[in-house]
Amino acid sequence: TAASVRRVCCIGAGYVGGPTSAVMALKCPGIQFTVVDSDAGRIAAWNSAAALPIYEPGLDEVVRSQRGRNLWFSTDIDAAVAAADIVLLAVNTPLGPRGAGLGGATDLSAIEQCARTVARVARRPTIVVEKSTVPCGTGELIAGILRRDGRPGVGFSVLSNPEFLSEGTAVRDLLRPDRVIIGGLDGSEDAQRALASVYAHWVPQERIVTMGLWSAELAKLAANALLAQRVSSINSISAVCEAVGADIADVSRACGMDSRIGGRFLHASVGFGGSCFHKDIMGLVWLAESLGLHDVAEYWDQVLQMNSSQTARFVARIARAVGCDLDAGAEVAVLGFAYKAGTGDTRNTPAAPVCERLLAQGARLAIYDPKVPARQIRDALPAESHYHHRVRICSDAYEAVAGARAVVLLTPWPEFATLDWARVHGLMAQPAYVFDGHRALDAPALDRLGFRAVSVGVRTTHHPKLK
Ligand code: UDX
Ligand code: ADP
Repeated sequence: TAASVRRVCCIGAGYVGGPTSAVMALKCPGIQFTVVDSDAGRIAAWNSAAALPIYEPGLDEVVRSQRGRNLWFSTDIDAAVAAADIVLLAVNTPLGPRGAGLGGATDLSAIEQCARTVARVARRPTIVVEKSTVPCGTGELIAGILRRDGRPGVGFSVLSNPEFLSEGTAVRDLLRPDRVIIGGLDGSEDAQRALASVYAHWVPQERIVTMGLWSAELAKLAANALLAQRVSSINSISAVCEAVGADIADVSRACGMDSRIGGRFLHASVGFGGSCFHKDIMGLVWLAESLGLHDVAEYWDQVLQMNSSQTARFVARIARAVGCDLDAGAEVAVLGFAYKAGTGDTRNTPAAPVCERLLAQGARLAIYDPKVPARQIRDALPAESHYHHRVRICSDAYEAVAGARAVVLLTPWPEFATLDWARVHGLMAQPAYVFDGHRALDAPALDRLGFRAVSVGVRTTHHPKLK
């Protein structure tokens, strides 16, 4: 029952598990939260006085205020699970070996391992909650493992409580979620009430919604698929804008003012990235395929294809403008490598294929991102050593642009909009191009400074070969 939740264990101290547990601990002073992970280095980092293993605005403060009170980070998984009333599963669920293209499936080995751990060590009724994004049906898989391997007489409930936080705003999203979804199989109503009682410490009742397990699992995939689809839809229109001389910013605004459509998530870009959109759409495609719903699978696969072609089209524009100079090893300054601002995460970042294509065309790259470590950028680039000789990782934007023929903005970090662009112009080789992959810069102002500014979703007339 609600009153009996005293201890929560979260397995997985990553982007989901860390911030989620920290905010829960902040809001539920009467409950003890232990975050466990098999990665000892990660746990040490969560316990350190220096940098936490992930960067999220506001997270440091929350962790500092709760750590050692009701928030603990540990590698002793068994002990924490055995003591818990609720076990949150927030381990990573990467795409499996068949991960690419149509039919990609998720690797559930970490989830299965966690379920077996719970089955092995739990001695009293335990609520097991899927937090990581998982394919539909994972809840039943977990329930099956608990039934088969659990100690006789120990009752388990399996809930799906998908996390909808966005990276870069994780703390804010967790403090004020649009909704909390708690899915369960028939007979798990008590468990659903117990988990709801945790959220009730800070989330208004009407935002906590219970439903079936399958519905909750599918809701997570559907929500991300719909968001990604909006981006692909507006990006497809941006291609038309570039061809006919319309401006995607105006088209987006006009569409977004329709209250049925709404203005958010209609920003044309070089493409979406992140760990969730690709994986969830692939999960949806895979599910549809496995159900024999081929049209449905193909429909959602198009969202990913549009995303790849948007990125490819962006590079093609750069190549058309800078052209033969790229072959000659012209330097291109890449500003931003994270898949979006506010995070150091580079999973599925469009910056990786953009850089790879530019390198393949012969360019040299000078890359700067305010939050992504140099090592991580190198790891995301193709392994060929002759590429690595052509890549400089820089520690500020001015260093990156020095001598460059083109600046390519791939992450809309606010600091890029406020650069001293006159100084940038003076540092660059002429004619100096700026390619804005996010409409983050004031292109007319850049033109006035002498740049040839090229933005996603606007026709450009600076160059005869460049539409
Ligand atoms: C997303 C969902 O928003 C979140 O609810 C879910 O839990 C995880 O996946 P996240 O991946 O952190 O969150 O980032 P989000 O802000 O959704 O952006 C995803 C990508 O879409 C970014 O690469 C961003 O640049 C791109 N995007 C977003 C656009 O290109 N245009 C837009 O209008 C919005
Ligand atoms: P997410 O974005 O889903 O939070 P992360 O990769 O950031 O994914 O975090 C997942 C965490 O789960 C990692 O720190 C990883 O070490 C941990 N993990 C994965 N498998 C297990 C496991 N079987 N037991 C404990 N921790 C695990």
